[in-house]
Amino acid sequence: ASIEKAGYPHFMLKEIFEQPKAIQDCLRGRLDSTTHQITLSGLEKVKDKLLAAHRIIIVACGTSWHAALLAEYWIEELCRVPVEVEYASEFRYRNPIVGPDDLIIAISQSGETADTLVALENAKQHGATIFGVVNVVGSSIARLSDSGIYTHAGPEIGVASTKAFTTQLAALLLFAIKLAQYKQKIDTATSDTLINELQAVPDKVQEILNSQLEKIKSIAHKYVDAKDFLYLGRGYNFPIALEGALKLKEISYIHAEGYPAAEMKHGPIALVDENLPVLFIATKDKIQEKIISNMQEIKARSGQLIALVSTDDTFVSSMADDSIEIPEAHEIIAPILSTIPLQLLAYYIGIARGCDVDKPRNLAKSVTVE
Ligand code: G6P
Repeated sequence: ASIEKAGYPHFMLKEIFEQPKAIQDCLRGRLDSTTHQITLSGLEKVKDKLLAAHRIIIVACGTSWHAALLAEYWIEELCRVPVEVEYASEFRYRNPIVGPDDLIIAISQSGETADTLVALENAKQHGATIFGVVNVVGSSIARLSDSGIYTHAGPEIGVASTKAFTTQLAALLLFAIKLAQYKQKIDTATSDTLINELQAVPDKVQEILNSQLEKIKSIAHKYVDAKDFLYLGRGYNFPIALEGALKLKEISYIHAEGYPAAEMKHGPIALVDENLPVLFIATKDKIQEKIISNMQEIKARSGQLIALVSTDDTFVSSMADDSIEIPEAHEIIAPILSTIPLQLLAYYIGIARGCDVDKPRNLAKSVTVE
C-alpha cells in the first residue's frame, strides 16, 4: 500500500499533491496557449443544442455540486445564459420542468452516483440533452451522456474529493470560455487572458504546495480543538467556502459551515465569539472591499480570523490572526487556487485529531444507493 501511495502517508495527501499534474492532464490537447484556442470535441457534438438552449441545468451531488455552483457563476458571467444548479436527489423527486430544449450538464467523479444517474435518466426520457463532466471513463453516467468532457484526474482513492474537484473546475471553465466564444459574448482580450491564466494554474497550484505548506500545518495545529468553523466567501469564492467547510467536516469531524459572507448577519454571526475560527476567502477581486468589511464585523465580535489573501496583500493579512497566501490571479481563476489550502487545512486538522482521513467514518467514495 505504501508503494501505491508513492511515499505519501495517505492517498488524500498524494492526491492533493497530484493536482498540478491532474489539471495539466485535463487541459492537455484542449487548450493551446500559443494560438489561444480551446478545442473540446465533446462540446462540438452538441453545439447546436447548446446554442439553442435558453438555459442550462447542472445536476450533481456532494463536492461535484460545489463545482456546479461555481460553474453557474462562470457560465452566467461569461456566456450570459441562465443556469440552474440542482442537487440530483431533489431534482429527481420534484417533477422537474425539463424537455427537449434543455441542456443538462451532469458532474460526477465516479459516474456512478445513483441519484445523479436516475435524475439524468429521467431528464433524458423527457428529451433533454446530457453533457457529462465525468472522471471515470466508461462509467454509467459517461455512457448515458450524449456527449461530454472527461476530467482526466486519474484514479481518486481518498473518499474526500480533491483532485477530482479541481479538474472538474478546469473542465467547466474550458467549457464556459468556449461557449462564450461561440455566443460571441467574450472579447478576444478577455478570453486570451483567461486562457493564459488557466494554463498557468498548474504552476500556481505547485507554488501554493511549495510555499504555504508549513504555514497551513501550523494553522491546523492552532485550531485543532475548535468545535465549529465558519467558511465565508462572496461571488466566485462562495462555492469554495462551501467546499472548504465540507472538506473539514468529512475529514476532521469538526462541524463547519460555509456561507456567503454577507449572509452571516442573517444568522451565523450569532455564533461568533472568541472560540470560533472564521475563515475568509479574501483574495483580490471586484468585491474585495465588501469582504473586508465582513471581516471587520467578525473582528469586532472577537472571532478568530483566518484569511486567504493574495500574495503581498499586507492590508488584509494584517487584519487576520492567520493568513495563507494565494498567487495573484484573475478573479475567475483564483477560486481554483483557493481550494488547495482548504484541502490541506482539513487534512492536517484531521491528521492531528487522529482521524482516518482516507476513509472517514460513515462515508463512501461512491454512493450507488439512494
Ligand atoms: C460521495 C463522495 C464525494 C462526492 C459525492 C458525489 O459523497 O464521498 O466525495 O463528491 O459522492 O460523487 P460523484 O462521483 O458523483 O462526483
